[in-house]
Amino acid sequence: MGILRQATRVLKKKGSLKGRRVGMALHVEAKTAALVLALEEAGAEVAIASCNPLSTDDDVATALRDEYGIKTYARRGESQKEYYHNLEQVAHMAPEIAIDDGADLTTLIHEKPQLLKPLRGICEETTTGVVRARAMHKAGLLKAPILDVNGANMKHLFDNRYGTGQSTIDGLMRATNLSIAGKNFLVAGYGWCGRGIASRARGMGAEVVVTEIDPVRAIEARFEGYRVMPIKEALPEADFIVTATGNTDVVAAEHVPLLKDGAILANSGHFDVEISKPGLRRHSTKVNAKRVNLTEYHLKNGKRVLLVAEGRLVNLAAGDGHPVEVMDASFSVQALCAGYLGEEGFGLGPGVHAVPKEIDDQVASLALKAYGIRIDALTSRQAKYIHSFEEGT
Ligand code: NAI
Repeated sequence: MGILRQATRVLKKKGSLKGRRVGMALHVEAKTAALVLALEEAGAEVAIASCNPLSTDDDVATALRDEYGIKTYARRGESQKEYYHNLEQVAHMAPEIAIDDGADLTTLIHEKPQLLKPLRGICEETTTGVVRARAMHKAGLLKAPILDVNGANMKHLFDNRYGTGQSTIDGLMRATNLSIAGKNFLVAGYGWCGRGIASRARGMGAEVVVTEIDPVRAIEARFEGYRVMPIKEALPEADFIVTATGNTDVVAAEHVPLLKDGAILANSGHFDVEISKPGLRRHSTKVNAKRVNLTEYHLKNGKRVLLVAEGRLVNLAAGDGHPVEVMDASFSVQALCAGYLGEEGFGLGPGVHAVPKEIDDQVASLALKAYGIRIDALTSRQAKYIHSFEEGT
């Protein structure tokens, strides 16, 4: 992770994290461990819990805890109670900077007013977490500055799109051992993640159908060459169904009888509410494990359908998450944002703040350097022209 290595050097030189307590709730897997160690190298004291009960790589958690001495509270397959207990352990360190993914740590910290005092700010990693933070702010309940790390170009343009695109297909292939080629592939939600998933599914030879609720995104998908239709019309034909909306009940109980025999259902959105598990159970006579990460539902209408990784983020629960290069950029934004909060956090008011453009641009420049890519610079004539109005036809 060459970008993160350079970002760590920048942080060390500035000393912006020296002695700071950093509490994290992220997917505890290999790339996240690199971020943890980078922050520690930059002088921070770090504690980490998982942001999802099914995304922890137990080998990584053990190594962080036992070999590197990092306070690590995560296990794959945590119960809801254990999940919140682990987040509590991180909250107990009274973080000065929090790094969150999905806003569960953020809401927990807000339940304990004494934790808000030392808190300089929170970096939020994902779309759903930012949506929740904005909703908290609208309700007048947000008491800390939140940096919208997801909104940085060097995050969502690559992580949500290409990262989720590749790793979702990878998770599906590992869980099912089925061919993507020759299949009808439904993508629900044509946002940053949906665009990536649709593009990679098409690249693997699937015929892609998109469902949306936003007219502009629906037209964008159509112009990209996908068929667009209501989900009720798309489901009876779909072999693979992947949700990536950040919304609930996208495949609702009423949709279950419409599913095709043998359909594979998976979710790439943050929470496991996009595909209704109660709805699947209600319409089933029997539920059994089919393979690792694959649950088979025998429907009352005689069809069988399969749910991947309990409807939790398929790319992390059934795969290794985003490719290394993608997380290198995302976590470099995180690291530099944590440093920024270390220096400026107390000066920012409660609310959701954009990542400073300088950090976004810095990560892009470090990425070019890490990849060995050189680009052109404006000539002085061009620099003048591009900012002027005098010259026309
Ligand atoms: P986005 O806001 O760019 O896109 C979501 C899209 O879903 C929007 O176009 C919206 O109109 C559409 N949508 C909402 N309700 C819908 C419905 N009922 N039917 C069809 N479409 C609907 O969000 P983004 O960045 O694509 O993130 C989507 C989800 O994925 C979020 O929960 C986010 O936190 C999560 N995420 C997951 C990652 C992973 O590794 N699996 C990585 C990054 C984000």
